[in-house]
Amino acid sequence: MSITVVVGAQWGDEGKGKITDILAEEADLVVRYQGGNNAGHTVVVGEEEFKLHLIPSGILHPDCTCMMADGTLIDPQVLAEEIQQLQERGHGCENLRVSCNAHVIMPYHRLLDELAEEARGSKSIGTTRRGIGPAYTDKTARMPRAVRFGDLADAGRLRGLIADQLAQKNVIIQELYEHSPLDPEEVFEEVWTVAQTVSKYTTDTHKIIQDAARAGKQIIFEGAQGTFLDLDYGTYPFVTSSHPVAGGACLGTGVGPTAIDEVTLVCKAYTTRVGAGILPTEAADEAAQQLRDRGAEYGTTTGRPRRCGWLDGVVLRSAALINGATSVALTKLDVLDTLPIIPVCVGYEIEGVLVDTVPAWADDLGKVRPVYEEMPGWQQALGQVRQWSELPPAARAYVEKVEALAAVPVSMISVGASRQQTIFID
Ligand code: IMP
Repeated sequence: MSITVVVGAQWGDEGKGKITDILAEEADLVVRYQGGNNAGHTVVVGEEEFKLHLIPSGILHPDCTCMMADGTLIDPQVLAEEIQQLQERGHGCENLRVSCNAHVIMPYHRLLDELAEEARGSKSIGTTRRGIGPAYTDKTARMPRAVRFGDLADAGRLRGLIADQLAQKNVIIQELYEHSPLDPEEVFEEVWTVAQTVSKYTTDTHKIIQDAARAGKQIIFEGAQGTFLDLDYGTYPFVTSSHPVAGGACLGTGVGPTAIDEVTLVCKAYTTRVGAGILPTEAADEAAQQLRDRGAEYGTTTGRPRRCGWLDGVVLRSAALINGATSVALTKLDVLDTLPIIPVCVGYEIEGVLVDTVPAWADDLGKVRPVYEEMPGWQQALGQVRQWSELPPAARAYVEKVEALAAVPVSMISVGASRQQTIFID
């Protein structure tokens, strides 16, 4: 048996989609364990580019079963669109399964996310406005009649749940946000139209996962977002409402921690963040724009420009520890090709004291002064490199610095978007 968790080391957008797609070649099962369509995973196959928000990146491998497990959130409209787009491009979704227990993002969750962000004004989190926070809030508040994926198959049940939910939600929508109420029948019609298409994918995913694990199958748990967007370990409150960290894979899929064999920590060669919150190694405008342009750093889900900065070794080290990483997949190394000097943050100074892990109290992150080491750039294109031995010495030194900071070996280096542009290290 082999279970690997693929998890982001930073604030999401590390390139997990490509790494999952590569690992999925050998996998029987690829399972998303948290989050919803706030995620955006880009996978490039030949000349084709696929942007996936909900469906696991393994869907492009016909022999691989793909799942949205219990810990995920499903917006049925987005799921229906994604299935249709894949089918139109020749990728049937017969091998897709969705947990009956996954909670559903309803139109009122999207509206409440929007209204809450507007109301926060200058203190907004910068959410993707996809309804993630409000839907997980219903789940953790144990709303007795919250809609789960298994509810989508039964029109009468769904209509009743929506009516009950809106009896409450409309009070908040009207009284707190002074917005016009939602009509339960209209909401029902909107959801029921797509529910009929997607509910056939419903199943008990955790039974299938446990059976597959016992049968010795290769399983990938695909994380969305990243370690520092985790509800507990991220830069609270500027986080998402789920658990992207490797431990979240156990909660979200229904397997115990001892079943996990490998944790592949996906780390971008520099740092990006979308939305508000501290980013200690954020680069000055011109350098940030250079990284943004070369790395095409615009959100897959919202199109927002990502904030860009240098590799943060403190973040990397903390992520390796929090996730129990067994290897690092270093992505987008080629984006740094043109730089003569590459700053790498090797520690933080907080009020004169040097620290090497991310402070537990997120407010303290606002006080840190990154300590940089300047690495020489390689100033040549890496896109065609396929072997470790072909990498220029300066690029190898950069990878070795990543290994030293993470205290975990680098097993893969990505030097471009396509599957082929990958260097594997034994
Ligand atoms: P939410 O998950 O939409 O509630 O957004 C909360 C925070 O997480 C915001 O700062 C978002 O920009 C960020 N976020 C959510 N999903 C992703 C992602 O897939 N990549 C990068 N940032 C994300």
